[in-house]
Amino acid sequence: MSTTQTNKIEIIKAATSKINEVDFENLSFGAVFTDHLFECDYINGEWQKPIIKPYQPFLLDPSAKVFHYGQAIFEGMKAYKDDNNDLWLFRPEENYKRFNTSAVRMAMPEVPENVFMDGLNQLLQLDEAWVKKGLGNTLYIRPFMIATGTGVVANPSSDYKFMIILSPAKAYYSGEVKVLIAEHFSRAANGGIGAAKAAGNYAAQFYPTTLANKQGFQQVIWTDDATHTKLEEAGTMNVFFRINDTLYTAPTSERILDGITRKSLIDMAKKEGITVDVRPVLVSELVEASKNGTLKEIFGAGTAAVVNPIIGFSYKEVYYELPKVDDSMALLLKDKLTNMQHKLTEDTFGWTVKV
Ligand code: COI
Repeated sequence: MSTTQTNKIEIIKAATSKINEVDFENLSFGAVFTDHLFECDYINGEWQKPIIKPYQPFLLDPSAKVFHYGQAIFEGMKAYKDDNNDLWLFRPEENYKRFNTSAVRMAMPEVPENVFMDGLNQLLQLDEAWVKKGLGNTLYIRPFMIATGTGVVANPSSDYKFMIILSPAKAYYSGEVKVLIAEHFSRAANGGIGAAKAAGNYAAQFYPTTLANKQGFQQVIWTDDATHTKLEEAGTMNVFFRINDTLYTAPTSERILDGITRKSLIDMAKKEGITVDVRPVLVSELVEASKNGTLKEIFGAGTAAVVNPIIGFSYKEVYYELPKVDDSMALLLKDKLTNMQHKLTEDTFGWTVKV
């Protein structure tokens, strides 16, 4: 191992790389991690000792607050490699801003921009061989922060750990996705933490999603907690509905995550001349549109899955199948987005950022 100091980030390189052990053609999402990670600790009110070091486990006190009170947040980003071997990020500023919005909501310290961005850029440069060229190949980036302070008194931690880990990724879902519309469970409530990328939001989805899986559905479409009449998100993604030739998606709110893929698709769709109506969408409208043949598409949108077409939904024990369309807006937008991210087409929005 060699130790160097670069831009105040200490870098300890792995003695050997694991890269040759990885089958890049057959990757399960989020299962394999690159050779290095970035770490920075918040102690005594200061972010200190940023370091890039070999990917490895770490020790925490059993009373660390993350284990007891779930002070934990994360982001999901991706890096792409173009045909010239240059590395690109997609709207990284948006992830950085959202990370700190989540931190504030969870009574955690904000991460300074230079810690987040320099750590990310230097980590990516070190592990750049793990980003493969070609559409469909990406490196999923997982920045996260946990409360490491000790003691089981229920108040915010004094100490935190911010880390970035990297995982080569292909598709998030394999196969067709059918969804169950939630009639009882909710993902979020007004005044709650639904707009934060807080770990607990995802943990709370596991039980209802497992019940849906047992019934043959891959994901749940979450409805508002008060009335269960408004369609809000799909699994871990934002959700779009195409009725006739208009795209509908719910506005962001205290309950709905401000998805970066979501807002990018809205802007791209408008540029393609597609009408996008951002407003609460009712379950009853969806059922009615399915019955009268005007419901053409439903798709999820998120960093991990990008654009994920949904082939049917179940509501009150009735299954509604979507028609097969030959002018899919989901596929059009997915192609446009991934081509832009891989620098195969011009980025007229200025969203792609070179590492
Ligand atoms: C993402 O799309 O980045 C997400 O946050 C989904 C994640 C739970 C895999």
